[in-house]
Amino acid sequence: MEITNVNEYQAIAKEKLPKMVYDYYASGAEDQWTLQENQYAFSKILFRPRILIDVSRIDMTTTVLGFKISMPIMVAPTAMQKMAHPEGEYATARASSAAGTIMTLSSWATSSVEEVASTGPGIRFFQLYVYKDRNVVAQLVRRAERAGFKAIALTVDTPRLGRREADIKNRFTLPPFLTLKNFEGLNLGKMDKSDESGLASYVAGQIDRTLSWKDVKWLQTITSLPILVKGVLTAEDARLSIQAGAAGIIVSNHGARQLDYVPATIMALEEVVKAAQGRVPVFLDGGVRRGTDVFKALALGASGIFIGRPVVFSLAAEGEAGVRKVLQMLREEFELTMALSGCRSLKEITRDHIVTEWDVPR
Ligand code: FNR
Repeated sequence: MEITNVNEYQAIAKEKLPKMVYDYYASGAEDQWTLQENQYAFSKILFRPRILIDVSRIDMTTTVLGFKISMPIMVAPTAMQKMAHPEGEYATARASSAAGTIMTLSSWATSSVEEVASTGPGIRFFQLYVYKDRNVVAQLVRRAERAGFKAIALTVDTPRLGRREADIKNRFTLPPFLTLKNFEGLNLGKMDKSDESGLASYVAGQIDRTLSWKDVKWLQTITSLPILVKGVLTAEDARLSIQAGAAGIIVSNHGARQLDYVPATIMALEEVVKAAQGRVPVFLDGGVRRGTDVFKALALGASGIFIGRPVVFSLAAEGEAGVRKVLQMLREEFELTMALSGCRSLKEITRDHIVTEWDVPR
């Protein structure tokens, strides 16, 4: 049967994928309260549409860090995409580029920065995990720069891996025929089998728990690429990110895979936007599944959003065609939402086009 919305890919992926892989993609941490909340919180926001505006032409284009893209919908970094489909990150890169939008490649991709660059033109960001061995980090950042990546998304919410119980039960590990390609030559491309989650052991062994604000400054000494701080949930950390030289902020709770019982990102967004005071753009990821969700995030001040799971689920179901379809469906839904709310361009989307459950009555 025809697929008519992004959510439908999840059930197909569940059927197609080995349990260990599906659970890794789908799960959140501990009680998965935040996982539910990331999507559910969007339903606490309603529209205040404006009528009788000529919406025969809708412009969804925008500029992110100086790069023009077709729509404010971008691809978040998700690790190990070749577990979903043999073409993995290649398919995602091609689909993103065809949609005229930005793909963020995970540090833990099963394709290297060079391989992804070889798929052809496209605006791409590189997501960075900071390893204890800073030579590894410096090399990797240099390779990403050379491969034409345009920004670093520095993930700051993962000094340790969140407790994802499905991965513990499944003894999750990277299948033996795959490697974390960016680290292959560095002897860090494999994940040992472990009596807990193989990924949690890998993180405990390799990722730098001492990471702090001074390292955001350090990163700027080894690269001229703009840095997006990914994983901000409070006004305090928004201000510190800007002080530390961030070019942008991504409001993210890592798809609810790290600390459980943090708020849905859509509920944390406005506080961060206010603290940023327009000095840097603020983006959001987490639970975006509909064009209406995209609109709500923009109305609360986001400059754009990123999607994570919809990409891996559609990749598992239909490869590149699936990812293209997800981006196309979100694009069309978002365009329709703009038309039905009376907005012809992104700058016409305002706070007054929505009302949230936590707003005081007018
Ligand atoms: C992620 N995420 C993630 N983030 C990151 O900085 N580096 C990574 O390697 C990964 N890997 C990863 C794998 C999988 C399977 C998922 C689901 C998520 C988090 C990701 O970038 C993003 O923050 C969330 O996925 C957004 O939420 P939704 O769209 O999945 O609800």
